[in-house]
Amino acid sequence: MANDVMEKIVSLCKRRGYVYPSSEIYGGINSCWDYGPVGVELKKNIKEFWWKSMTYYRDDIEGLDASIIMHPMVWKASGHVDGFTDAMVDCKNCKLRFRGDEIDGKSCPDCGGELTEARLFNLMFKTHIGAVEEEATTIYLRPETAQGIYVNFQNVLNSSRRKVPFGIAQIGKAFRNEITPKNFIFRMREFEQMEMQYFVKPESAEEWFETWRKERMQWYVDLGIREDRLHFQELGKDELPHYASKAYDIQYQFPFGLEEIEGIHNRTDYDLKNHSKFSGKDLEYFDDSEGKKFIPHVIEVSAGVDRTLLACLVDAYDEEEDRVVLRLSPKIAPIKVGIFPLVKREGMPEVAVKITQDLRRHMKVFYDESGSIGRRYRRQDEIGTPFGVTVDAQTLKDDTVTLRTRDDMKQVRLKISDLARELGELIQRI
Ligand code: GAP
Repeated sequence: MANDVMEKIVSLCKRRGYVYPSSEIYGGINSCWDYGPVGVELKKNIKEFWWKSMTYYRDDIEGLDASIIMHPMVWKASGHVDGFTDAMVDCKNCKLRFRGDEIDGKSCPDCGGELTEARLFNLMFKTHIGAVEEEATTIYLRPETAQGIYVNFQNVLNSSRRKVPFGIAQIGKAFRNEITPKNFIFRMREFEQMEMQYFVKPESAEEWFETWRKERMQWYVDLGIREDRLHFQELGKDELPHYASKAYDIQYQFPFGLEEIEGIHNRTDYDLKNHSKFSGKDLEYFDDSEGKKFIPHVIEVSAGVDRTLLACLVDAYDEEEDRVVLRLSPKIAPIKVGIFPLVKREGMPEVAVKITQDLRRHMKVFYDESGSIGRRYRRQDEIGTPFGVTVDAQTLKDDTVTLRTRDDMKQVRLKISDLARELGELIQRI
């Protein structure tokens, strides 16, 4: 059943232009995926909602866009060169490979064969900078965006004249050479993160951790995800990442299990202290109200764009007797409104095209005149378009159209001149 739902979602994504296998004409490449026309729009809307919630709706967070390639010492200082590893185990019989934490007993979960000893495997992708491939030119593709924020802490502090507490937010690609990528876009080797590091006084770290834990859970609810499918999971001492003293995962109930979509971490002064030590630069903050210097502690909220998008798709997927519907929140739906002339004659397409052109300035619209009106509605239902506007014979008499709502399929008549305002309100309201 679980696989069945995932298979249907993967197939819908391919058919309707959400997500395609990467390099498909060459047979694809494991763990890499491409976002199609509506996928890229949904992704953009999710990122925008996150970006606004961090840097527009609050006044204590600045934005940043740091380089993916950084000085290799960054990863030495951050502990990723020595500590960002997973245990890897192979089956001697069927040759399947597993992460150490996926194995319960001593034999292969698939065929029962004998397993190799666990070997540690660093998840960072290595490459070389410049023309000569030698040890001195080794660099890494960033496995988290966070380090770009830490190495710019002083820059942002000085240019924005912020005082602690304040945060720095960033959205960008991250890369991990995962041992067992799986579950569609859930575990990939190239993915995107939305991370915010909040710099606080050491004594207030615990309080800010709790504040951010609640804020972040509410964000997913505001995004339109069902609350009863979201959970917190506190990480045990032996599960903590190497940089964290305390961590909670926000999990979503996927068809393949309850899995992490965001990590909330108390990173203490771990990163700034190490960058200070390795770079020789003073990264202390001077608190002029108390006349003392200290290294701020950091509460990190780290969400995956792709996992959030997958949670949105799974949450929105619904099958009815004669249609498949993606009940995406109108706020993030890739296309906000489909515009349809009832028939391709009697001047209806001309009016519908004019409406399309006018609405285009306000929102993402899609014009469709091909096929029966029922099929056109179904196509948009499957993409998740929340509203449909139909131009019919009545329109030519009184300048009104029908406005159809995806979720309940109810239709009302509206004046063309009221459409932009009415739709704008409906999209904001939900
Ligand atoms: N800076 C902290 C950090 O990177 P993490 O828990 O390793 O923490 C944060 O990752 C989020 O990034 C995860 O909750 C997940 O949403 C996303 N993520 C991590 N690895 C991923 C992968 N291989 N594929 C897709 N998303 C991933």
